[in-house]
Amino acid sequence: MRPRPALADLRPYEPGKPAAEVRRELGLDRIVKLASNEGPYGPFPAALAAIERAARELNRYPERGAELAERLAARHGTTPDRIAIGNGADAVVGLLSMAYLDPGDEALMGWPSFPSYRLDAVKQAATPVTVPLRGGSYDLDAMAGRLGPHTKIAYVCNPNNPTGGMVGRSALRGFLDRVPDDVLVVVDEAYHEYVTDPDYPDAIAEHVQERPNVAVLRTFSKIYGLAGLRIGYLVGPPGVVREAMKVRNPFDVSEMAHAAALASLDDAAEVARRRDLNERGREELAAALREAGMEPLPSVGNFLTADVGDGRALARALEAEGVIVRPLEPFGAPECIRVTVGTPEDNAAFAAALGRALQPR
Ligand SMILES: Cc1ncc(COP(=O)(O)O)c(C=O)c1O
Repeated sequence: MRPRPALADLRPYEPGKPAAEVRRELGLDRIVKLASNEGPYGPFPAALAAIERAARELNRYPERGAELAERLAARHGTTPDRIAIGNGADAVVGLLSMAYLDPGDEALMGWPSFPSYRLDAVKQAATPVTVPLRGGSYDLDAMAGRLGPHTKIAYVCNPNNPTGGMVGRSALRGFLDRVPDDVLVVVDEAYHEYVTDPDYPDAIAEHVQERPNVAVLRTFSKIYGLAGLRIGYLVGPPGVVREAMKVRNPFDVSEMAHAAALASLDDAAEVARRRDLNERGREELAAALREAGMEPLPSVGNFLTADVGDGRALARALEAEGVIVRPLEPFGAPECIRVTVGTPEDNAAFAAALGRALQPR
């Protein structure tokens, strides 16, 4: 059996180490996982109730996708034909790659950034074209300079994972003005709900309706606390939604995920509460890093990245203290770690563990 040559050098995505595994290895009661940028709080109360109800009907295939598309369309002031729901925003990146990338085509992206843009391009035997970040956010001028006849998709991760930097309103508009209409621009706003900077553009409200080639990703994995259920969506041109729907598998999003997402949409107060907690938590983590002599990059998301010299070594030392963070070698930044904002208790545990991990032995 011969797998496709395009896969020969593909290194699968490395998820953070499972908390249960670390708990077992260390014999600790409490493990603090700050490695995967999930929200630290569970599903909203209404979503939990909806999940319980949906659990009783798991003998049935999912059928509330159209209802969710309608609700999302109403929320974004658009029509359901502009909504594609996926098994996580991540799966939507896969669908777009399948729909738009042939061998030899190029997918343009900043780097380091969300690894799926690269991995999903490579799976299609397409070429990822990576452009270094500037100060932790996408360098859209440099990206515009790399657009070429083979560019099919250009990603703008805003704010960028893993660095947390954002591009502002005029930089995004200027870039979109320069991209030809036959290049699909995917603005990934997975962390949208956390951002409070007034210069942060809402690409759904500001661009999707007017432009034929702009699609925006959002997810329920972060502030809504549904990462384990896997549900995200795209808002974009109807033609892009149609192509993405052609390559999806039937019933790829579970009914529990539909139900939980629907039940999460009306609790704006809880979104605001979590956003405030995140701002405070990010400050706590930044203070702990600074105390240890490590200046984090400016971040508007629910995570911080800092140059620590040797990311893997520090992540290992923190793990021995029961705190799991993400070393950024797989993202192309071996000198860095990324720490996700946790609960106030988690953040305090990180600060204490960092102090211990850095003590000379
Ligand atoms: C920038 C970015 N896009 C997409 C995703 C994936 O989101 P989902 O859980 O909806 O697949 C993540 C998750 O970490 C992310 O950081």
